[in-house]
Amino acid sequence: MRKQIQFILLAGATALSAIAASPKHGTKWVIGMSQCNLGEPWRVQMNADIRKAAEAHPEITVIFKDAQNDTLTQRAQIEEFLNAEVDLLIVSPKEAAPLTQSIAEAYRKGIPVIVLDRRVLGDAFTEFIGADNRRIGRAAGEWALRRLAELPAVRAGGKARIVELKGLMTSTPGQDRDAGFREALKGQPVEIVFEADMKWLEPAARKEMESALAVNPQIDLVYAHNDPGAHGAYLAAKAAGREQGLIFIGIDGLPQEGQVYVRQGLLAASFEYPTGGREAVENAVRIFQGEAVPKEVTLRSRVFARDNVDQGGAWLP
Ligand code: FRU
Repeated sequence: MRKQIQFILLAGATALSAIAASPKHGTKWVIGMSQCNLGEPWRVQMNADIRKAAEAHPEITVIFKDAQNDTLTQRAQIEEFLNAEVDLLIVSPKEAAPLTQSIAEAYRKGIPVIVLDRRVLGDAFTEFIGADNRRIGRAAGEWALRRLAELPAVRAGGKARIVELKGLMTSTPGQDRDAGFREALKGQPVEIVFEADMKWLEPAARKEMESALAVNPQIDLVYAHNDPGAHGAYLAAKAAGREQGLIFIGIDGLPQEGQVYVRQGLLAASFEYPTGGREAVENAVRIFQGEAVPKEVTLRSRVFARDNVDQGGAWLP
């Protein structure tokens, strides 16, 4: 603990980090939370969920670090937490492979590590918490097929045309949301006419969608791996005067983001991706109390569409 405080004083060179890093009075346990970025509302929500859950535990202080979407920064920040001898690490890693080693190192030093939302390789961590992205991708595919089957062109024996805007493909949610979606589409009357890695970022999705529109006179549906991506694609289509009749599907389903887009009619559907922030804190407490926790916790998700968003969505099977 003394070492932690020394570190915290050092790290607190700026007023801002001093506020972020002061352990509360009565703290018994310090959790280091390594967030890969705070650029999207979903990650801001994850930190808020962690903060809220931790408030119920006066014996816990959480120190947050934001890697600003840079893998090397995230590695350095995990190392800083190790040097400070935090009692537990929560990491939401930007990418799988490059962060595997840092997390394994902490785990082997005896610091419990909860990996949240994006996976790393291997099993050198205490627990992984996240929703089943492959299943979400598959559900999105099945949902898309039901809507596309109504198109006159498809009824007449033609194929529906899909644009897929992927999340960062060096991160596991991007890989799984793609794999699940394609699993559902196998053998169906659809064609993916354009695909691109928009790296989870709305401006990149908008740009990719501009290219998709430029080379495809007919697009029926856009599947984006997150709601910022779906929104960026919508804005590109709207600017080109082609948003009418185009079906947009996204993932995250935040009450203040995806669910609003669905209500406004911008997105046809958004699939919930729970942040797992609350569960991470609850499991950290169990670890501190000496309880065994499962290696993997799978969170459930819902689909929000126009016909159910006001009733709280529908759980995926
Ligand atoms: C935010 C985000 C979410 C997405 C998640 C996947 O950085 O892109 O929109 O669901 O990460 O890890």
